[in-house]
Amino acid sequence: MAKQEDVFKTIVAHAKEYGFVFQSSEIYDGLSAVYDYGQNGVELKNNIKRYWWEAMTMLNDNIVGIDSAIFMHPTIWKASGHVDAFNDPLIDNKDSKKRYRADVLIEDEIAKFDEKINKEVAKAAKRFGDSFDEAMFRQTNPRVLEHTRKRDELHTRFAKAMNDNDLADLKQIILDYEIVDPISGTRNWTDVRQFNLMFKTEMGSTADGAMEVYLRPETAQGIFVNYLNVQKTGRMRIPFGIAQIGKAFRNEIVARQFIFRMREFEQMEMQFFVRPGEELKWFDHWRQTRLRWHKALGLGDEKYRFHDHEKLAHYANAATDIEFQMPFGFKEVEGIHSRTNFDLSQHEKFSGKKIQYFDPELNESYVPYVIETSIGVDRMFLSVLCSCYEAQDLGNGDSRVVLHFPAPIAPVKCAVLPLVKKDGLPEKAREIQHRLRFDFTCQYDEKDSIGKRYRRQDAIGTPYCITVDHQTLEDNTVTLRERDSMEQSRVNVDDLQRILGDSVSLNSLLRKLV
Ligand code: GAP
Repeated sequence: MAKQEDVFKTIVAHAKEYGFVFQSSEIYDGLSAVYDYGQNGVELKNNIKRYWWEAMTMLNDNIVGIDSAIFMHPTIWKASGHVDAFNDPLIDNKDSKKRYRADVLIEDEIAKFDEKINKEVAKAAKRFGDSFDEAMFRQTNPRVLEHTRKRDELHTRFAKAMNDNDLADLKQIILDYEIVDPISGTRNWTDVRQFNLMFKTEMGSTADGAMEVYLRPETAQGIFVNYLNVQKTGRMRIPFGIAQIGKAFRNEIVARQFIFRMREFEQMEMQFFVRPGEELKWFDHWRQTRLRWHKALGLGDEKYRFHDHEKLAHYANAATDIEFQMPFGFKEVEGIHSRTNFDLSQHEKFSGKKIQYFDPELNESYVPYVIETSIGVDRMFLSVLCSCYEAQDLGNGDSRVVLHFPAPIAPVKCAVLPLVKKDGLPEKAREIQHRLRFDFTCQYDEKDSIGKRYRRQDAIGTPYCITVDHQTLEDNTVTLRERDSMEQSRVNVDDLQRILGDSVSLNSLLRKLV
C-alpha cells in the first residue's frame, strides 16, 4: 500500500496538473504558503461556499449574511485581543537558522506516541484477526499502556505551559524530550518568543498622517461590529445569526501541508446571538447541525470526529473542533465556540457605544452571548479533494484517476462529447451543450479518443459524460456515462435536463439537512 505521505504528494501534483490549485506567483518561484485556485479549483470552491451560504441563510429564517470590509478600524483589533494576544510561541534553531512554532514541535512529539500506540494496535489486530478486542488491548497491553502514560504526561505538561503562557517551560519541554530540528538534526535552540500573526499595512496618503491598519485575521470581528446595524435594519430578534464568507490573513510561521495552513485564506463564519444562560444549549445545537452539514456530503461518516478543547480561550466557555481525516491525520476543519458576551462587551467598552439587545419577552436589555461556527474554505476544499481522490485499478492493465466529488459540488457537471469529429456530430453536440449550459457547468470536448476524453473528465470529477453518436442524429438519444460506476445508458436528449438536475443540484444536498 502506498504511504499516506506519497498519496498526499500525488494529490497535490494532481491538483496542479488538472487546474485546481497553483502555487502563487509560480513564475517568480512562488510565494510561500500562498496559493491560487485554477479553473476547476475555483468552481469547486464556489460550490462549497454556495453549499455553506445557502444552508445558513436559506434554511434558517433567522440567519442573514453580510460582506464586511477587510480593512477595519485598528482599535477593533485592540478590543478583540488580537493586538495583545494573537501570538504564536516561536523558537529558532541556531544551526539551520529555521524558525518553528514551539507548540507545533511539541504536538508532533505527542503525535509520535499516538503513532507508536496505533502501530501496536495494528500489529495485534493482524495477529489476532476477527477475535481481536481493540478496546481491551488498549486497556491492558503493557507497551500501549506505557506509551499512553508518557503521552499523557507530556500532554498535561504542554497544556499547562500553554495555559500559563510559560515560554520557559515550552523550551524546557523541547530540551527534555530531546526534540531536534528536522533540518539540522541539532538541539541548538534559542529561547521561545511570542510573535504576532497579524499583517500590518498603512492607510492614508502621507507618511505623517498614515494610520497603521491590519489585514483582518478572522472575518468574525466584521460581524461583531455590524451587530447593531443588522439587528436594527433587519429587525432581528434573538436568537439570530449573521453569516459571512471572506478572506482572512495570518502571518503563519509553520506554513505547510499545502493549502491546509496558508497566509491568505478564506473563512465562512457565523455568529449566532443568544440570550445569556442559553448559550450552551445553542452550542450543542450548532455542534450537531454543523456535523450534519459535513456528513451530508457523503464523504464517509467515519472521517469526522469532534475534538473538545481542554484549553479554552479566556472568553470562551465551550469549544470544539470538527476534525477530518486527512492523509496526514485527523485535522481541524471547523471550530465551534461559545464566546460568551466577550466580543460585544469589548466593542462596547472600546467604542463607547451601547451594544445591547432589548428582549421584549424578558422585558430587559443585555449584551447577547454568541455561538460561533468558523470553517476554513480552503481546508474544506482540501478535505473534499483528498477524500474524493482515487487511483483506480480497472483490471486488464487498465487504470484511471477519478475524483468522486459529490455531484452537487463537482466543478464541471457534464461534458458533451461527439464520438467523431465529422458527420454532423460536433454540431449536434454543440447544440446539446448550448441547451445545458444555462443550468449546468458543461464542457465540450472533441479531441482524442472517447476513452481518453472519459479519463480526462474522471480526473476532474465530472459526474456525467454525454456522448453523441450517429444514432443521436436518428432518434435524438445519447449515451449517458456515470462517473463512479462507469455505467452507460441510452437516454433521450430532452430528458437530460431532468436527469442531471435531480442528481447535481445543490437542492438535493440541502434537502438532507432539514
Ligand atoms: N473566528 C474564529 C477563528 O478564526 P480559528 O480556529 O482561528 O477560529 C477557524 O479559525 C477556521 O479557519 C479553522 O478551523 C480553519 O479551518 C481555518 N483556518 C485558520 N487558520 C488557517 C490558515 N492559516 N490557513 C487555512 N485555514 C485556516
